[in-house]
Amino acid sequence: MVDLSRRPRRNRKSEAVRALTQETFLHKEDLIYPLFLIEGENKQEPIASMPGIARLSLDLLLEEIAHCMELGIRAFALFPALPESKKDRFATESYNEEGIYLKAIREIKRQLPSACLISDVAMDPYSSDGHDGLVENGKILNDETLEILAKMAVAQARAGVDIVAPSDMMDGRVGYLRQALDNEGFTDVSIMAYTAKYASAFYGPFRDALDSAPKFGDKKTYQMNPANAKEALIEAELDFAEGADFLMVKPALAYLDVIKLLAEHYPLPIAAYNVSGEYAMIKAAASQGWLDGEKVMLESLLGIKRAGAKIILTYFAKEVAALL
Ligand code: PBG
Repeated sequence: MVDLSRRPRRNRKSEAVRALTQETFLHKEDLIYPLFLIEGENKQEPIASMPGIARLSLDLLLEEIAHCMELGIRAFALFPALPESKKDRFATESYNEEGIYLKAIREIKRQLPSACLISDVAMDPYSSDGHDGLVENGKILNDETLEILAKMAVAQARAGVDIVAPSDMMDGRVGYLRQALDNEGFTDVSIMAYTAKYASAFYGPFRDALDSAPKFGDKKTYQMNPANAKEALIEAELDFAEGADFLMVKPALAYLDVIKLLAEHYPLPIAAYNVSGEYAMIKAAASQGWLDGEKVMLESLLGIKRAGAKIILTYFAKEVAALL
């Protein structure tokens, strides 16, 4: 026998011992399920690049949320898919009280008041330019965009949303939204900031889902450079100081170091967005039989938790909740 006083394998010797020594767990409580809304009734449009995910009209969306709540998922991030005819330079449709998005928020909160509803604050689903900010002469204007985002966030708060989530990456938007919400008496509406949102190629399937790809150029003047981590600390410092209630890192899997960095430096709950491309890769490989989709899903989500995320926004939410 080799004389070894430390044998780490002892802590892996059985199912029960492995359970005792397990450091990280997935909980249904940590999941946020992103949902895509379309106009109409009894309409369901599957998204080819996101197997298992579809754009839903409000009636079907309500059923889907009710079903998810039975599975133990309580939080939902809602995104609207609009026809080109509803889009303009100023994203006017984003604060139209009679538009599908605000109507849906009102109806979901009326029928399912205990669901935690998270709205998206960014111009891209409503913008004829497909950018998250106002475009002038090929440039994305920062301060002019804030005014539009504030109108959007206040309208969403008025419709009854629990949390607004600015995903636009304009400078100063968290403080600007906090002030606008507070001025209108919505001191209870939380802000989940997309703090470190990278200019990532992993958003491809999502842009298919919303038909929201930029009409020119890319998002590199506002979304972060994938090569940078320290910059995430600046963004976090600003969002923290400006009153964010949650800090988000997006995407998740290629940015686990950034999740860890923010989790170590900030006392706020950290959310990670396991984005559409991350979902599509696993689904694609699994459908070819190249890897075990369920095991890779669980391992990926666990890795995101281990890095320090408290919350995971994931298209796998329903699948994983059914297993937990
Ligand atoms: C845009 C937005 C994007 C996503 C969420 N909000 C895409 C983008 O920045 O172009 C991507 C989510 C995903 O890929 O799952 N405001």
